[in-house]
Amino acid sequence: MQDERIKILDKEFEISIPEDRIMKAIDDMAQQMNEDLKGKQPLFLCVLNGSFMFASDLMKRITLPCEISFMKLSSYEGTASSGKIKQLLGLNEDLKGRTLVILEDIIDTGLTIKNIIEQVKVFEPSVVKVATLLFKPEAYKENVTIDYKSLIIPNDFIVGYGLDYDGFGRNLKHIYTLVSEN
Ligand code: IMP
Ligand code: MG
Repeated sequence: MQDERIKILDKEFEISIPEDRIMKAIDDMAQQMNEDLKGKQPLFLCVLNGSFMFASDLMKRITLPCEISFMKLSSYEGTASSGKIKQLLGLNEDLKGRTLVILEDIIDTGLTIKNIIEQVKVFEPSVVKVATLLFKPEAYKENVTIDYKSLIIPNDFIVGYGLDYDGFGRNLKHIYTLVSEN
């Protein structure tokens, strides 16, 4: 077991979702997908970097004939404003007529996923489903339908299991929450 409390860069975090709960959530999601998408050959689209662990553990539990592809949003230096559209990189499969399942690590305000869906739809898939491991309902501002959301969490900053704080913490097998600084 990793330490209950850890330090990453300048901040303290404590375990909030241990590995076994994450795995149970992914088991349940995979089971649901295996039922819902029976007869389909979905193409899973993993949004890098944060979703790499989630996508990996989820895919091992999918029993449908399926494919996976990876995509990334371009990032801005310095002047990134939350309202800007980031370009999706890495979409080179033929998406036309496909059943897509977008895999996100976390949906916070929803701006990123809204952006991704708009760009993916240009390729004319027949179905676009959205799956996120983590969801912060208090922060969510969009009205995009999220088909699969496993772990509903408060509006706190978390790291681990693919999610980072300034690039660090992605390797942790549990999810940790920032310890309040006041
Ligand atoms: P949204 O556009 O506000 O929904 O933000 C989504 C993105 O912000 C995610 O893909 C993450 O990269 C990042 N993010 C949101 N909340 C957290 C968090 O608590 N820890 C680490 N990254 C987060
Ligand atoms: Mg992400």
